Amino acid sequence: MNNYSPAFHRHKSLKQEKNIMLPFSCYSPKLSLYILATCVILLMLLQIRSLHTVLPTPSSPLPSLSPSASWSLFQQWQNLVLNRTLAAASPVNCTQNPDSMNQKLRDSITFLPLKDLRFSNQPLDGHTWFMSSMYDTREEGEVQYQQFPSEPSKDRLLCLKGRDTHDGSWNYYALAWPEALPTNATLMKGLTFVSYNHYNYDNIWHGLSAVMPFVAWHRKNSCEKPTRWVLYHWGELRFKMGTWLNLLMEATFGQAPHIEEFNDVDDDQPVCFEKAVVMRHNEGGMSRERRMEVYDLMRCKARVYCNVSLDRRDSHERPDIGMTLLMRSGARSFRNETAVIGVFEKECKKVKGCRLMVAYSNNLTFCQQVKQMSLTDILISPHGAQLTNMFLMDRNSSVMEFYPKGWLKLAGVGQYVYHWIASWSGMRHRGEWRDPNGESCPYSDEDHRCMSFYKNGLIGYNETHFAEWARNVLNDVQTKRFEEEGTKNGTASMKTCDCN
Ligand SMILES: *[C@@H]1O[C@H](CO)[C@@H](O)[C@H](O)[C@H]1NC(C)=O
Ligand SMILES: *[C@@H]1O[C@H](CO)[C@@H](O)[C@H](O)[C@H]1NC(C)=O
Ligand SMILES: *[C@@H]1O[C@H](CO)[C@@H](O)[C@H](O)[C@H]1NC(C)=O
Ligand SMILES: *[C@@H]1O[C@H](CO)[C@@H](O)[C@H](O)[C@H]1NC(C)=O
Ligand SMILES: *[C@@H]1O[C@H](CO)[C@@H](O)[C@H](O)[C@H]1NC(C)=O
Ligand SMILES: *[C@@H]1O[C@H](CO)[C@@H](O)[C@H](O)[C@H]1NC(C)=O
Ligand SMILES: *[C@@H]1O[C@H](CO)[C@@H](O)[C@H](O)[C@H]1NC(C)=O
Ligand SMILES: *[C@@H]1O[C@H](CO)[C@@H](O)[C@H](O)[C@H]1NC(C)=O
Ligand SMILES: *[C@@H]1O[C@H](CO)[C@@H](O)[C@H](O)[C@H]1NC(C)=O
Repeated sequence: MNNYSPAFHRHKSLKQEKNIMLPFSCYSPKLSLYILATCVILLMLLQIRSLHTVLPTPSSPLPSLSPSASWSLFQQWQNLVLNRTLAAASPVNCTQNPDSMNQKLRDSITFLPLKDLRFSNQPLDGHTWFMSSMYDTREEGEVQYQQFPSEPSKDRLLCLKGRDTHDGSWNYYALAWPEALPTNATLMKGLTFVSYNHYNYDNIWHGLSAVMPFVAWHRKNSCEKPTRWVLYHWGELRFKMGTWLNLLMEATFGQAPHIEEFNDVDDDQPVCFEKAVVMRHNEGGMSRERRMEVYDLMRCKARVYCNVSLDRRDSHERPDIGMTLLMRSGARSFRNETAVIGVFEKECKKVKGCRLMVAYSNNLTFCQQVKQMSLTDILISPHGAQLTNMFLMDRNSSVMEFYPKGWLKLAGVGQYVYHWIASWSGMRHRGEWRDPNGESCPYSDEDHRCMSFYKNGLIGYNETHFAEWARNVLNDVQTKRFEEEGTKNGTASMKTCDCN
């Protein structure tokens, strides 16, 4: 999604790093003298050799030697000189005084603020404002991540410092070699997931967007499970995920997420992680195929966790065509639920095997939602976080979305998130209905101040339109079902999840 290329900057920072490293490296005046001498000799030899190749005439002053013979002689000499130099250099023992060198490495560690205010005007671009000096590992179509230790980190571990929950520029990060961790640092064993979330971990859409890349990493790295999570929002620590998200992660990783609170650590005491993975770009960079595989894994794990059958053919409760009206209460609910239920019920009854179910997202447990979605082929719901549940339906299921008045012009690109997740998780977004009527706003229709009037408006209905729309979607689902039965094989049966 972002095309920022860190190649140039990385090159530069590598060079800088080398220069900084020089005073600590294995350095001796004796060695440099040898190297200097070798260079001078090699230079002279090269001159002689180039004379030979330029003048390979019979009248050459060295007629007894053919150019190739002289070249091999030269090589032998060169090897000898090099061997001597290296042999002479080897007595310089780099590990002779490891303690003082490690102390120097330790003292050279610099902690930088997690939130870099220089980038507050583009907090999500490229290296972002979170750990802004670090670059992500990027592979075509795969999730973007940082891993420590790793080749890009030159085998250094990630260390964090600070427990601020209000301002991320008071929390810090640094890299350190395992043998030279910062003074007084605590080393935490196992795999640590470090998450950046620009919004929050309570809203199920924003929460899922932040944790989804970790599931992608897990799937790609032999299903390795995290020992702990460190959650950040703008560099500020967070100690909780919403219940729904917490349970989804428990289902996916087979254990409730342990969210690190650093209770046993002083505010200015660094913590280093044996192995850490950092995510700050959500699903950005992933191909549609990869995203679908990750949602497949979470769906599968959630169904296993909730004892819901993985395959529709194994379920006795499952209708041929399940149509679910997922209701909201309060903001963005239907103004006349009875009327809306009536329209869809009427259309559903006309189709053999169709069953209409009405559910309220606010009073369903996580597993009730997982189960409800496993019975659903057509999800009908107002715009809102409860729609995130759509990825829990079988692939290729249908979604119908409803907006109150005013959203099209004023709500910005964020209003399309459920179109996106439909595409990413392999669902079919069957369009939307926007209520032409609703709250009235004292300003002109396009004034951004009107959004506060429209944001949580109620949603009316248009019987003619809803009925026609429902007929079309039902017809498509039915046609697809017939086709599947015709080929006998149907949808590929799902018996086990990718990670076990
Ligand atoms: C240089 O050292 C290598 C390995 O120790 C050896 O194989 C090679 O023959 C040596 N070259 C000469 C010219 O002594
Ligand atoms: C270098 O020094 C260390 C510690 O004094 C010693 O254990 C090691 O054997 C030495 N290595 C060489 C190549 O002399
Ligand atoms: C390390 O901890 C000791 C004891 O708590 C303290 O006196 C010292 O100042 C600390 N050193 C650093 C660099 O924080
Ligand atoms: C799933 O079934 C197992 C065994 O039948 C039971 O122990 C577990 O509590 C069930 N889980 C849920 C979420 O219902
Ligand atoms: C809701 O719609 C039904 C059916 O169209 C109608 O009978 C009822 O009066 C409506 N209720 C309200 C509160 O408008
Ligand atoms: C769920 O909530 C809806 C409205 O908020 C209410 O009508 C319904 O009775 C509730 N169901 C349960 C099982 O609590
Ligand atoms: C209801 O929808 C139909 C079909 O899309 C449309 O022709 C009609 O104008 C709509 N009615 C209202 C009141 O918006
Ligand atoms: C059914 O599946 C098998 C194996 O996956 C395949 O070889 C066969 O062609 C399929 N049959 C139909 C009618 O799609
Ligand atoms: C979903 O639909 C596409 C295109 O119709 C089809 O290729 C694919 O096999 C379907 N996937 C599943 C899991 O039904």
